[in-house]
Amino acid sequence: MEKLKIIGGNKLSGSITCSGAKNAALPMLAATILSDKPIIFKNLPYLQDITTMFEILGSMGAEITLNESMDFMISTSKLHDYEARYELVKTMRASILVLGSLVARYGFARIALPGGCAIGTRPVDFHLDALEKLGAKIELKSGYIEASSEKLIGCEINFPGVSVTGTENIMMAAVLAEGQTVLRNVAKEPEVEDLANFLNSMGAKIIGAGTDEIVIDGVESLGGTEFVIPADRIEAGTYLIAAAITGGDVTIKNVQASRMNNILDKLKLSGASVIVGDDIIQLIMENHSILPVDISTAPFPGFPTDMQAQFTVLNALSEGSSVVTENVFENRFMHVQELNRMGCDITVKGSNAFIKGVSALNGAPVMATDLRASASLILAGLCAKGETIVDRIYHIDRGYERIEEKLSYLGADITRLPN
Ligand code: UD1
Repeated sequence: MEKLKIIGGNKLSGSITCSGAKNAALPMLAATILSDKPIIFKNLPYLQDITTMFEILGSMGAEITLNESMDFMISTSKLHDYEARYELVKTMRASILVLGSLVARYGFARIALPGGCAIGTRPVDFHLDALEKLGAKIELKSGYIEASSEKLIGCEINFPGVSVTGTENIMMAAVLAEGQTVLRNVAKEPEVEDLANFLNSMGAKIIGAGTDEIVIDGVESLGGTEFVIPADRIEAGTYLIAAAITGGDVTIKNVQASRMNNILDKLKLSGASVIVGDDIIQLIMENHSILPVDISTAPFPGFPTDMQAQFTVLNALSEGSSVVTENVFENRFMHVQELNRMGCDITVKGSNAFIKGVSALNGAPVMATDLRASASLILAGLCAKGETIVDRIYHIDRGYERIEEKLSYLGADITRLPN
């Protein structure tokens, strides 16, 4: 298994370009099923989760090619299978995103139940109940969800809780349904808006994405499109914390700061100077000490749960005490045990992590447990004394494009060790 070796202590400085957002790209890839016309993606990030979605689409018969501009072109006009197998779904829960598109376009889908997950139970009941309201018949057979429908019919759906992929899945199902669908209590994450923009560029009629209520007028069919995947706000936030934690000066290019206010406001409170330009964010932490900042995660526009582990490390090195509260997922503090082995002083009680800042960390061999937990261990390694070896980095490759290259470019001493 590959590992990352980090020798901590280098201040990061310079500029890097933000990659396309994984969580925007995944639902759009699933949405290619909705049209028989080719769809071209620009700025698609090179990540394991994207490869997994390619494998799911490929196993159903999608043609995925690189065009002369090195952009991915996907055609789902010859699908022969409407199934996402367990071997793929178990590595990526977001595989469930093909459910809505398959039922809407082909009237049938067979998707392995995602099952348990390192960061909580993460059920898919909101997806299934909403799809049933649209008229699909849902059966659970041998660990698989089987959904079928002659024709989906638009209706009003009030989600019992806010779910990002739940909102996206049902939005995709509703674009080809007969009549109007109104979705309430939806996720307002920027990636939901991105998906609506993408679907509208294919000919869908969706309004309200980014607010509590989305209205979708069903259309007969969708066409092709060419779409640029927007920047990954979580990747950008992670590098900004890398800058802050090492007392550095880093500029991230190709970002949309307007969708990162929840992160940038907290970084400012931690003592960082944050300068926002047209599509850049610069963070300067030189000669500043880190101030403790309480964090409480919540659906957008709240502080993202996907930045919780990284901010926990920043707080762990601050001059004081803070509390980080995780409200979105249960059991999302698995990084804490490993961070404490590096010298952090963090106590978890229920959904709260009580953090006492320490002045330094020591490098250690540590084990990544999920995507954002891995990011937090790398951040800790960047400022720890001596060598940190992060094991099980396949988690990080799911969501960070060439992380060691980008960090090395900013001056970190980080190397990928082969198997
Ligand atoms: C998405 C993101 C993930 C992020 C999360 C929260 C993608 C591909 N993934 O995951 O990076 O951490 O949003 O911002 O976009 N829930 C139910 N029943 C359901 C669905 C969800 O109870 O049917 C609960 C979950 O257990 C969780 C909460 O709702 O407690 C939010 O989960 P959700 O927004 O669905 O997360 P994902 O869409 O899986």
